[in-house]
Amino acid sequence: MANIIGAVTTSHIPAIANAMANKAEETPYWKPFFDGYPPVRKWLNEKKPDVIVLFYNDHGLEFFIDKKPTFAIGVADEYHNSDEGWGIATIPPVTGESELSWHIANSLVDDGFDMTICQEMKVDHGLTVPLSLMWPGNNYGHVKVIPVCINCEQYPMPQPWRCFELGKSIGKAIESYDSDMKVAIFGTGGLSHQLDGEAAGTLNRKFDLECMDKLVTTPEELTKYTNLDLVKIGGAQTVELNMWIAMRGVLRGKVTELHRNYHAPISNTGAGLLLLEHEMPDS
Ligand code: DHB
Ligand code: FE
Repeated sequence: MANIIGAVTTSHIPAIANAMANKAEETPYWKPFFDGYPPVRKWLNEKKPDVIVLFYNDHGLEFFIDKKPTFAIGVADEYHNSDEGWGIATIPPVTGESELSWHIANSLVDDGFDMTICQEMKVDHGLTVPLSLMWPGNNYGHVKVIPVCINCEQYPMPQPWRCFELGKSIGKAIESYDSDMKVAIFGTGGLSHQLDGEAAGTLNRKFDLECMDKLVTTPEELTKYTNLDLVKIGGAQTVELNMWIAMRGVLRGKVTELHRNYHAPISNTGAGLLLLEHEMPDS
């Protein structure tokens, strides 16, 4: 059985990649954000996960609004990034893990999740910026990544409860994989934000901090929200919380919070960071 060792949730905004490229991490604007990351990088470098199952949303690069899978999974050996208009540099390809990807895809479909299964898949900032953040200099090539993409752009979108169930089903698939590989789970995006429209700039610090607490101790409570609730509470793109909820669904065993950071606003978002350690359940 593969070993789920822990999880990381982080913002994925393109401005982070630009800040790193421009060496702006120590400026007053960015310092409170980047100061959160060294403990997470240290944990990843010490624990050395072999594989990362990464929940993200595609903002229009691979899946535009005319064709939108509710849930998609990559089963490729390699994924390429391209700049979908946010001004960030194209970065090295991401290494895939096709065998475990196929195992998870089969198991999900058997569980009733009608996945879009992608043998080729371009990946956008939702997937790449967190990798660049965790391995500065884009030194993430040694880690295998399984992209799991959740529709957060185009209605109808999967509800929080369904994303939690998706995570549970992925956890079950990983646990049934005959391997001693170490797996970490990433959930990217969020927290509260709205990028356009009359309410552009909306965010909700109190809600974000409550979500981070609940994500650790009582994640089921977050599944009571609808996407519309999230939009009203924190702005239109607060639905990116669904990636964090999916991540938490994977963790069936004991969860310990090792580290957190929260800083808002960073660009338009409430930027949360969580590092959770996970002990596999006995059965
Ligand atoms: C921003 C936030 C996002 O979630 C995103 O995908 C792109 C940009 C922002 O706040 O700048
Ligand atoms: Fe986003």
